[in-house]
Amino acid sequence: MSKLRVGIAGLGTVGRGVVRLFADDASRLNEKMQLVAVSARTAARDRGVDLTPYRWFDDPVALASDPGIDVFVELIGGSDGAAKAAVEAALGRGAHVVTANKALVALHGSALAESAERNGAKLLFEAAVGGGVPMVKALKESVAGSRASTVAGILNGTCNYILTEMENSGRSFEAVLSEAQGLGYAEADPTTDVGGFDAAHKLTILSAIAFGTRPDFAHVRVEGIERVTLTDIRLAGKLGYRIKLIAKGSQVDGAVEMHVRPACLSFDHPLANVGGSLNALVVDAEPSGQLTFIGRGAGEGPTAASVASDLIDLAEGRAGYAFGKPLTQLGAAPRATPAERGRYYLRLLVKDRPGVVAAISDRLAHEEISIESFLQMPVSEKHTAVPIVLTTQTCARSRMEAAVKAIAALDVTAEAPFLMPVEHAGQRWSSS
Ligand code: HSE
Repeated sequence: MSKLRVGIAGLGTVGRGVVRLFADDASRLNEKMQLVAVSARTAARDRGVDLTPYRWFDDPVALASDPGIDVFVELIGGSDGAAKAAVEAALGRGAHVVTANKALVALHGSALAESAERNGAKLLFEAAVGGGVPMVKALKESVAGSRASTVAGILNGTCNYILTEMENSGRSFEAVLSEAQGLGYAEADPTTDVGGFDAAHKLTILSAIAFGTRPDFAHVRVEGIERVTLTDIRLAGKLGYRIKLIAKGSQVDGAVEMHVRPACLSFDHPLANVGGSLNALVVDAEPSGQLTFIGRGAGEGPTAASVASDLIDLAEGRAGYAFGKPLTQLGAAPRATPAERGRYYLRLLVKDRPGVVAAISDRLAHEEISIESFLQMPVSEKHTAVPIVLTTQTCARSRMEAAVKAIAALDVTAEAPFLMPVEHAGQRWSSS
């Protein structure tokens, strides 16, 4: 059988990593396929890899449309523009596509999978989620025999690195973010990472596979880590919690709820000790039980290895449907009515006056919310406002939000309150 001919568009960190794997004689990639062409914005740049054996294309769409390419590897990035046009061109003529582009798959996954099925091509994207950690294949294949109720993970290495370093070094959010950018974890636009959107793209993909629904990015409620301060990290730590950006999808009575938001995890929670730029995913499924996947979520080697694993699946003839099932069997994700109950962490900055704490507890009592713990930071003589942090016992989120609104309306609050869910180990990972 002749070898599959591969073309790669995008020669950034991951693209360079895949070219290196093809150049490695020990790699399995060369057994059943060969890299024949590459494309990037500039041919002139020295990328530290020899590109002379490969045909060069200035235009990725021309590469994707070339009949001499059987598999188009898209590593350009971005949900639209050249990446989308090139992937559409490849699938449209029945060429297989392997991509690391989570934004593209989260936003246009249904249409692309439909084109793939119509034209007899495969669309694979293991590298789009969790870098080197096999999350997509694990859900599509290993968990296929079970029924997943929740997927919850740390899916953005930049945010995890920032929160971990803020805790360990006491440095500010801005200082640690610029270090993460220097280390190559961060997306070109930092708001994609710190605003929670990158994690939301990945959650959209994982939820679609786990729950057998079409990817529906617009359905994810997204909150980033921009409001998490050193005060939160320290005070949550004193109360026994570590703050993480958690991407969580739950299926309750057939309806799906997805959100990305910072949360306080008890120190013994399975995701609390996933530090630095690591990614992790916890899946609750029956009858398999709880499963945890952990590893490096970004960077050249891990992400290129996931691209290579998709290429090997294609070469071995075992690549399946994009989201695990034919598109006709994937329903639209029915939206859950948010009916969340849980414990909460609330940080307030209040004027230092007699009666302030009484007024706050009065607003909580009015919503029948019981305080579990309460901390006030000591401040200097010259202060005008003091931070107060409290955690609650289990209550309905709607009542917590009503109490927070009433507290924010008090004339003693000096900034908008900051609310996070609190999760404990062993707590059922579901929203209702
Ligand atoms: N920017 C992403 C992260 C890596 O920080 O996890 C690529 O998905």
